[in-house]
Amino acid sequence: MSKVQVAMTVNGKPADGLVEPRTLLIHFLRENLNLTGPHIGCDTSHCGACTVDLDGKSVKSCTVFAVQANGAQVLTIEGMAAADGTLHALQEGFREMHGLQCGFCTPGMIVRAHRLLQENPNPTEEEIRFGISGNICRCTGYQNIVKAIQYAAAKLAGMPFQEAAE
Ligand code: FES
Ligand code: FES
Repeated sequence: MSKVQVAMTVNGKPADGLVEPRTLLIHFLRENLNLTGPHIGCDTSHCGACTVDLDGKSVKSCTVFAVQANGAQVLTIEGMAAADGTLHALQEGFREMHGLQCGFCTPGMIVRAHRLLQENPNPTEEEIRFGISGNICRCTGYQNIVKAIQYAAAKLAGMPFQEAAE
């Protein structure tokens, strides 16, 4: 099958490559760009492990062709920390609140939570749970993921994080 050139900005840097028209964005990221943070967890567009940010929207990159991202701005988990390695508030929150166990869902969960907090910097617990409902975690039971996102929301707002009483 003939290949086409795609070019996009990924984590703030230009990236390009030759792909078949049927190549999915997740495969372009993982195989052409060696960005293996976004994971492939299903064949059904359900799990959200492949979530990336595409022009300011969360997308499941297994449902997007690489050619559809031509010219776009893409953010993956690899682009979340600062250039000096300082963790993003969400990454810190997941570490501090034990928001992961095996970690398979975590890259997609954090990138999704990033967009959620961009759209709603002070979400309620219910809004967080709804906001991450497209991302499945088989390990944690979600409670600590919610806390991690609350931690990040407080940190980004310059507020101390206070855990709600259980
Ligand atoms: S790999 Fe499961 S939704 Fe994309
Ligand atoms: S931490 Fe294992 S799937 Fe979420």
